[in-house]
Order: sequence, then structure tokens, then C-alpha cells
Amino acid sequence: MDHLTITRPDDWHLHLRDGDALRAVLPYTARRFARAIVMPNLKPPVTTVADAASYRDRIVDALPEDLRRERTFVPLMTLYLTDATSPDEIRRAKESGFVHGVKLYPAGATTNSAAGVTNLRHCWPTLETMQSVGMPLLVHGEVTDAGVDLFDRERVFIDEQLIPLRAAFPSLRIVFEHITTREAAHYVTDCCGRERTLAATITAHHLLYNRNALFHGGLRPHWYCLPVLKREPHRQALVEAATSGRPCFFLGTDSAPHARRAKESACCGAGAFTAFHAMELYAEAFERAGRLDRLEAFASFHGPDFYGLARNEDRIVLERSSWTVPASVAFGDDELVPLDAGSTLRWRVVD
Ligand code: DOR
Ligand code: ZN
Repeated sequence: MDHLTITRPDDWHLHLRDGDALRAVLPYTARRFARAIVMPNLKPPVTTVADAASYRDRIVDALPEDLRRERTFVPLMTLYLTDATSPDEIRRAKESGFVHGVKLYPAGATTNSAAGVTNLRHCWPTLETMQSVGMPLLVHGEVTDAGVDLFDRERVFIDEQLIPLRAAFPSLRIVFEHITTREAAHYVTDCCGRERTLAATITAHHLLYNRNALFHGGLRPHWYCLPVLKREPHRQALVEAATSGRPCFFLGTDSAPHARRAKESACCGAGAFTAFHAMELYAEAFERAGRLDRLEAFASFHGPDFYGLARNEDRIVLERSSWTVPASVAFGDDELVPLDAGSTLRWRVVD
């Protein structure tokens, strides 16, 4: 098979940033994906429907002229949950029609999460409203307790936060974002058959690489993201979940651009830039698993089905043709390093 034609995919977890950075990275996503769930962790964060409306306008303005004219890319906006998010804001979000989720960042868990939730108990009435109006909660699932080993934070989150949360709000729709562990894959799989309230996104990098990539021949900042890459058995469990055909798993790149200078520093921020070659990376992962036939459902069907949106109607074509991931791409007066720069990939999207 030399060509793979699939329904145009969507990215259910993406960081687009703002200003010049937004203009630099948006075309990579907008030329391939029809829609993207846009993360709200700007500085300051997108906490209100009014903020989300103006951020959406800035995204549309930043589209290259041809895409703006054709209206082919639709940003799906999210709100950043804080201890102070009100039930009224949730109702406004639902009525807006353009806010599709509310993101839980435990305070201190990751990039720009300082304004996040300090204790989920503070959000109880807000979560109640989300459950009743049908507004999904998108979860960065890691505990922030300094006493918990960084590599265990997702696993501990399931027991300490997610299970009690789902018991308290059984019909709240939850997306467990960018899962990285066998425990998360198994937990979501167990819930998948019975209800349709829990789903998970999986990144291409967590499907392709394990934590050795962070230390290969030295310390590799471009591989540092959160949740951090895990051991090989976890990667294998994620591949098994993503390629299982189960509707509770779908594509979310978590592409998170950080300028090269900031990445290659004594204290580098978390985030892997994959928007440049996202579909190629996913195709690589599915092909290695012998499951290219299941890429389309993962990339293009399960996400819209969970969010209650229509599937896309047009298609994209991937062709089997080897190419080398470039060392960097332009990013204002700096550069961005695509993940696994210099490596050879076997598939490429035909423009
Ligand atoms: O690696 C990450 N980068 N994980 C996150 O949760 C946030 C993201 C970012 O915004 O850079
Ligand atoms: Zn993210």
C-alpha cells in the first residue's frame, strides 16, 4: 500500500499560543486538520467566554489568507478552570456554542498552570453545572504533590482524584488528556464499554518513544514534555489502546511549541512540538503496530463522536515516501525544533 486516504482528522488537544507564535505554528495544524481543541493556558489564561471569543478571533485572523477565505479550519475553544470559575460562566460557555470543554490544570502541574485548581472541592458547584449542561471536563491528570515521584503522578491521580471525581459526577463527560501510562490506558479501557462518559487522547510522541529518548547520549530537552515519557511497557500499552479500535481513544497531539532558546536552557519548559509532522508520526506508530487500517477511526471518527460533532467530510492523503524531519523551522526571531528532528519518517501527507 503506497497511499492511504482517510477522512480529514481533527486534533483534540493543541497549544496554539498567541501573537507571533500563533501565526508561526497555526498553519501547520490548519492545513491538515479541520478542527482543533485549543488549550487555554495562555498568560493570562483564558478563563471566561469573553476571553475565549477574542482568542478565537485572533486565531481566525492569524490563518493564512487562503484558509481564512475557505473557512476550512475551525478552532474549538476551551476555558481554563480555576477555583473561582462560576456556574454562570459554564452556562454562558454552553450557550456560546463555541466553547467545547473546560480544562482542569491542577495548580503547578505544568506550563502556565499556576492559576489552576488548588483543590477540586472548590469547583464542586461548577462541576455540577458542567455535568447538568453537558460540558466536558478536559483533565491534565497528574497530582502535584512534591512527595510523589514525577513518573508516578498520573497513576496516583487516577486513584486519588479521577475515581472520586467520577463517583461524585457519574454523568460528567471527561477527557483524560494525553495519557502516558498502562494504568491510564487500562482504566479508560475498563470504562469504555459500559458508559460513554470517559475518553482519552493519546499523543504521537507517547506512542513512539519511551523515556530513554530523554537521555539518549545526553540530556535531550526537546523530548521533555508533561506528563513525561514513561517506560517501554507503558508505551506498549498506549499503542495497544490507540490501535484497539475502541471509541474511547482518539488523537490529541499536545503539540506545545517552545522557542529553541527556551528549550535549550538550564531549565527548559515542558512541551514537544509535533504540529509540523503530527499525522506522519501517528502513521508511523500505527504502521509499526501493523494497524494502519485503524488510523482513520482514531484520528477522524472517535473524537467528533465523543464531542457530539459531525465527522469531517473531506479527505487527506498520506503517501509512503521517506523524508527527513528538518532540524528546525522559523519561529519569529527564534526557531522551533520539531520532535525527532533529523530522523526519517516513512509517510507524508500529500498537500
Ligand atoms: O508538555 C506540556 N506542554 N504539557 C502541558 O501540559 C503543557 C504544555 C505547554 O503548554 O507547553
Ligand atoms: Zn497540553
